[in-house]
Amino acid sequence: MTNHEVDQDNTQQQNHPNRNFCYGTILLILDIIIINLKFWFYTFEHIYLSFYQKEEKDVRGEIVLITGTAHGIGRDTALEYASKGATIVCWDINERGNNETVKEIKAMGGKAFSYVCNVSKREDIVQVAEKVKKEVGFVSILVNNAGIMPCHPLLDHNENEIRLMYDINVLAHFWMIQEFLPEMIKQKRGHIIALSSCAGLIGLKNLVPYCGTKFAVRGVMNSFYEELRRMDLHKQIKLTTIYPYMVDTGLCKKPHFRFKSMKLVKPQEVAKTIVSAQRRGIMELSIPQHYLYLEKFINIFPRKACEVVSDFLDTGVESDL
Ligand SMILES: NC(=O)c1ccc[n+]([C@@H]2O[C@H](COP(=O)([O-])OP(=O)(O)OC[C@H]3O[C@@H](n4cnc5c(N)ncnc54)[C@H](O)[C@@H]3O)[C@@H](O)[C@H]2O)c1
Ligand SMILES: *[C@@H]1O[C@H](CO)[C@@H](O)[C@H](O)[C@H]1NC(C)=O
Ligand SMILES: *[C@@H]1O[C@H](CO)[C@@H](O)[C@H](O)[C@H]1NC(C)=O
Repeated sequence: MTNHEVDQDNTQQQNHPNRNFCYGTILLILDIIIINLKFWFYTFEHIYLSFYQKEEKDVRGEIVLITGTAHGIGRDTALEYASKGATIVCWDINERGNNETVKEIKAMGGKAFSYVCNVSKREDIVQVAEKVKKEVGFVSILVNNAGIMPCHPLLDHNENEIRLMYDINVLAHFWMIQEFLPEMIKQKRGHIIALSSCAGLIGLKNLVPYCGTKFAVRGVMNSFYEELRRMDLHKQIKLTTIYPYMVDTGLCKKPHFRFKSMKLVKPQEVAKTIVSAQRRGIMELSIPQHYLYLEKFINIFPRKACEVVSDFLDTGVESDL
């Protein structure tokens, strides 16, 4: 634009300030009406669709990488994916347990590969990821599951323990995503699943650092989705975050609950739910399912009111010391 044109533009605007104002206001009102229509459309669409079970995508032939497959939820998720015909890449620091998972999958007639990886070390992740890409191929489904849960009062946690917990439960997610997302973007498809926890929905005693890691996973996955959406990649790269309540794997050493109905969930059940949620493209899911909605609902009430409910339910974990 030349100076002359700028001048002209300015005078025009000065001559018709009212017209510009009216025009702007009408646009804004239209925008607000459209936003309202879309807002309620998507709200009712969600309610409507929640009555129908979404179709489960076929995972036959997909390569699924799961961390922490030697034991617990990771192991059962590997078996569940294998039973659906996927090829499983098993990562764990525990070589013996990992080998057993692979052996069991092969005995079922499935395909699986065992890799030793300490996911608390970025260099380990980078190295083993390179091997997997060469030896197995394109990982289209990634399950960030490995995690540890030391459980005691904050002042009894030492520095190394807290750092290791953040390395495994949080930072490993970044290194894994950075290794496997680029190829997913190239191939225009991929799915990343993260294990958070109900301890990522509410704070609990004896689990101050752990809750921090699980809240972090929730924040990471939420903002990761937003970034993918803004880059218009969210239809190709799917994300799922899982919030299990206490699961019967031994991770949760001294669970404590007042009501028997709040007893521990079986890892097989959790694994089935994870695989089904991924195949149906569900973004967030707690196990049991209503906990996530309960958390969203209860948080509109004041802190003290929530404390009354929490004291009544009297659920948590005792120190492992
Ligand atoms: N068990 C529960 O009550 C519960 C509840 C909510 C969420 N979760 C989450 O689910 C995930 C799995 O938990 P789980 O109960 O199956 O635990 P688990 O202890 O049974 O299994 C965890 C696996 O991760 C592996 N692992 C640990 N550190 C590792 C490392 N540095 N590198 C590679 N592998 C490592 C272990 O060897 C083990 O095989 C965790 O992220 C946990 O926080 C568990
Ligand atoms: C695990 O399996 C690999 C490959 O089959 C083998 O080389 C390794 O010795 C096994 N490790 C253990 C601890 O069983
Ligand atoms: C994994 O790495 C951490 C350091 O990041 C180390 O403290 C831990 O002992 C390692 N675990 C195993 C089983 O090698």
